[in-house]
Amino acid sequence: MSAQVFVAKESASGELRVAATPETVKKLVKEGLTVVVQAGAGAGANIADAAFADAGASIASDAKAAWQSADLVLKVQPPQQNDALGSHEASLLKQGAIVIAHVFPHKQLPLVKLLMQHKVSCLAMDLVPRISRAQVMDSLSSQANIAGYKAVVLAASRLGKYFPLLMTAAGTIQPSKVVIMGAGVAGLQAIATARRLGALVEVSDIRPAVKEQVESLGAKFIDLPMQESGEGQGGYAKEVSADFLAKQQAVLKEKLAQADVVITTAQVPGRPAPRLVTEDMVKAMRPGSIIVDLAADSGGNCELTENNKEVVKHGVLIMGHSNLPNTMPTDASNLYARNVYALIKLINDKGTLKLNLEDEIIAGALLTTDGAVRHAPTAEALKLS
Ligand code: NAI
Repeated sequence: MSAQVFVAKESASGELRVAATPETVKKLVKEGLTVVVQAGAGAGANIADAAFADAGASIASDAKAAWQSADLVLKVQPPQQNDALGSHEASLLKQGAIVIAHVFPHKQLPLVKLLMQHKVSCLAMDLVPRISRAQVMDSLSSQANIAGYKAVVLAASRLGKYFPLLMTAAGTIQPSKVVIMGAGVAGLQAIATARRLGALVEVSDIRPAVKEQVESLGAKFIDLPMQESGEGQGGYAKEVSADFLAKQQAVLKEKLAQADVVITTAQVPGRPAPRLVTEDMVKAMRPGSIIVDLAADSGGNCELTENNKEVVKHGVLIMGHSNLPNTMPTDASNLYARNVYALIKLINDKGTLKLNLEDEIIAGALLTTDGAVRHAPTAEALKLS
């Protein structure tokens, strides 16, 4: 009998994305899986139940039964307390079931314990190793790309100025100045988008390797007094010393005082976001300027950011959006669903699911299985909790 895949409706408040689309459902069915989609699962992303049905899924109106009988559940957000079902989603899953979702386990230790208790295998999209073969599954990148783009579009729509240089009959308008902090996936997309709109862009990052990428997008790299390298493991940044951060802030303060828009995306994996913009720096900014802080839910790169809020401090609009991909749910779902589908291909053998631990991608993404935690940093954190 072919394994049953369940596409759940997201239960997190305000979450509009969905983990599968008619395009991916069609492929899953063709590859021997039975697909059940919760009624209304695609509504937030403008996908009707009928479109899923046309792709070969059956539509479940009894969500609880679908959770309980699924062999594989697909989600965007981590399994969580689901008030509509009167239960935690992880405790509905049968023993040996697999769930694919974003987890960020360092923030989800109680969930990890539940997954262990219920002997659920969890493939965390955020733990998929960032190796070339896994690029097609890299949902951190697909979603960060959207966040970077949308941050610029939001800032442009709220700024009382043009982004491009304009020569008009009424005189010349100078281009806006945008400072971007962190040139990872979100930051690079923010640079490209701000450049396309014609702004002058300056960029700060602590990984020297990104300077060339920044310049190739037509932005200026802000050189820092690098006594230490910010390059950590796997292409990520490492946490820099307080002394370095103070020097970086001093350099950035002058840049911020000239900026119209500041977009911050700086992150260090598993650590609070580096504090790059202090209150003092905000005070030195021009009235009417804008900060979009994409690190809002890991503490914020700006001291005055409030998560999921827009606040005006010292005349500066500070937007603390933690889930900008959710504001573009159609494309965010399209891309996420393809990431998830690529991962399922690795565990599906003509309708039978198998977790091959010899595969580096499965071994890396598998957070829990058979009552055990496989991700070493999470196992360590659980001992300490
Ligand atoms: P991220 O979201 O963890 O960090 C964003 C950026 O913040 C990084 O560029 C980081 O250097 C920067 N940052 C950290 N502390 C900072 C500070 N004090 N000041 C300024 N900037 C600071 O990173 P993301 O976007 O998830 O990816 C980072 C890198 O990972 C990529 O640029 C790439 O090298 C690598 N990567 C590799 C992939 C692959 O091979 N499949 C896919 C995606 C990313």
